[in-house]
Amino acid sequence: MAIERVGVAGFGAMGSGIAQVCAQAGLAVAVREVDQAAIDRGWKAVDGSLARIVKAGRMSEDDAKATRARIRPTTSLADLRDSDLIIEAVLELPDVKRKVFEELDRVCPPSTIFTSNTSSLPIVDMAAVTKRPDRFAGLHFFNPAPVMALVEIVKAITTSDETVSTLRAFVQKLGKTPVVSKDVPGFIVNRLLVPYLLGAIRVLEQGVATPEEIDTAVKLGLRHPMGPFELLDYTGLDINLHVANVFFDEFKDPTMAPPPLLKRMVAAGHLGRKSGKGFYEYDEKGERKK
Ligand code: CAA
Repeated sequence: MAIERVGVAGFGAMGSGIAQVCAQAGLAVAVREVDQAAIDRGWKAVDGSLARIVKAGRMSEDDAKATRARIRPTTSLADLRDSDLIIEAVLELPDVKRKVFEELDRVCPPSTIFTSNTSSLPIVDMAAVTKRPDRFAGLHFFNPAPVMALVEIVKAITTSDETVSTLRAFVQKLGKTPVVSKDVPGFIVNRLLVPYLLGAIRVLEQGVATPEEIDTAVKLGLRHPMGPFELLDYTGLDINLHVANVFFDEFKDPTMAPPPLLKRMVAAGHLGRKSGKGFYEYDEKGERKK
């Protein structure tokens, strides 16, 4: 089955990037957010990203306009009913996701494939609230979605082989590389990334070095594009705390336990780039203050 129309639930940091990537591949995208203010924030992210791509000479102004025109925002989930594929990227809260899938299951035809962009929740729990557990999988994009070349396809114990092959072809159509993972917390990338990021916070807690020194060491010593504190600020400390809690619950592995500093920073509202302060400080454009 070829995917022509995509429905994206959520126009936040991930949903806006995913909607944009699908539109760039020539697909019609319906994207749902809860209100107009959230839709406006999604557009701001898409417009900023398209402007960067145009400025870098990788897309013409006309193609950027055509890409934008393929994205149709709505506040009603029912407007996603004509989609061949649903990609859910709403809050990482099981109840919120469950409600979205229950409603979509009522309005979409049985042929529509459902996917979640969750980075930590079990795919099978969401598949189980629908009447299509065989046509349900994880589709995990990385931030920033317009740049990152990988998409993890997560095969729950209910997901059919046919669904996985359709998703493989879809990810390739987006110009990205798919890898298939079992439905275990963190899949492949976050399973490796999260203990590393939490370990960096413990190194900081122990006073081994400053965030700047640790970031410089990792960037120059390992050639990572960002150091761990830059990446924590970039993806959001609240998101990382949530993922660590889910992982620790599942594995009871001390390397997955959230360090006290992370909990306290989140409690203080220091969430990283989006709140203006995390391990570093940021201006209103999200640029790091010198
Ligand atoms: N949209 C479009 N293009 C973008 C972009 C965006 N949002 N962000 C960056 N770019 C482009 C820039 O325009 C630039 O393009 P050119 O090379 O053609 O000029 C290129 O990407 C590099 O950007 P910059 O020069 O501004 O900055 P950089 O070299 O520091 O790259 C970065 C920025 C791509 C974010 C890079 O730092 C990076 O790859 N960081 C690591 C990101 C990462 O690890 N993401 C995974 C997070 S984990 C996750 O997402 C999973 C989860 O579940 C939480």
